[in-house]
Amino acid sequence: MDSHSTALDLGAMVRAMREAYHRGDNAMEAARALLNDDANLPFAVLVAYDLQAGTYAASAGAHPERTEAWCTQLAALLRPYVETSPSSLLEVGVGEATTLAGVVERLGVPLRWAGGFDVSWSRIDAARGWLAERQVDAATFVGDLFAIPMADGAVDIVYSSHSLEPNGGRELEAVRECLRVARRAVVLVEPLYEFASPEAQARMSSHGYVRGLREAAESLGARVVDHRLLPYTGNPLNPSGVLLLEKTDDSPAANDLVWRCPLTHAPLTPEEDLYVAADTGIAYPVLRGIPLLRAEHAVVASRLARHAGR
Ligand SMILES: C[S@@+](CC[C@H](N)C(=O)[O-])C[C@H]1O[C@@H](n2cnc3c(N)ncnc32)[C@H](O)[C@@H]1O
Repeated sequence: MDSHSTALDLGAMVRAMREAYHRGDNAMEAARALLNDDANLPFAVLVAYDLQAGTYAASAGAHPERTEAWCTQLAALLRPYVETSPSSLLEVGVGEATTLAGVVERLGVPLRWAGGFDVSWSRIDAARGWLAERQVDAATFVGDLFAIPMADGAVDIVYSSHSLEPNGGRELEAVRECLRVARRAVVLVEPLYEFASPEAQARMSSHGYVRGLREAAESLGARVVDHRLLPYTGNPLNPSGVLLLEKTDDSPAANDLVWRCPLTHAPLTPEEDLYVAADTGIAYPVLRGIPLLRAEHAVVASRLARHAGR
């Protein structure tokens, strides 16, 4: 496909997905049908989740007992890694921060930094509302879990809550990137295909969900310390489990987060309305207060340094 037809196809895909969503159908399924492919195109994952923005917060508000059970379970998995000293915690694919807020509230220990990012701007917008209502202090930004805009070992713990899920076929890349950014541990809470019933496996395959996360981690040399189904799961046809990977980095925790350009890994300096990599002349914009730190948002702006105040 040349770039022109790609742009047209993506346009057609957004329209088809929006129509499907507003009809009450599965938007990702509409994209797969359009492409005649079982895997979920990253752009389709973005559109599908962006269309749903607001629904997780509404659901968490309507069913606080589910959020309570989910976040209590996750906090118990994370606590051993954060209770010894004030630590930093990052949720990849944070959605509307209904999990992040609940985890921070339930950990019961002071954190040095908590944050989360999502591929969808609309979900981060919803996340900011949810965090503000609960007065939970956590940073949020738009980012891609396959190119996290942070330095190696930038945070103590990286965790997920069903965000690797729709990225079937890209397990190795996803686990590698989480391991790169974590200093102490990676805690992946994802549907575990290997432990699922045949019915659940069929459903997971048809949705293009991840599988074989443990094999991916082991092939990268990661140390697996826990891998099992969890007692509380939202949907038995999508059974949640944990894959816990420990790292052996004894270096002292960084005092400050170090942002990195997702394209070049050059240091990024946050400014009022942009993040700038001075040595490459690449900048990332901030939309309505939300940093856009995906490679797709890169603006090559070599003349930026000439502007006042820089
Ligand atoms: C099932 S939702 C879970 C949201 C949140 N973790 C929670 O517990 O409520 C999956 C989330 O992962 C995000 N996601 C999927 N692929 C992503 C990627 N490549 N980079 C960043 N976020 C991603 C989606 O946009 C969506 O918000």
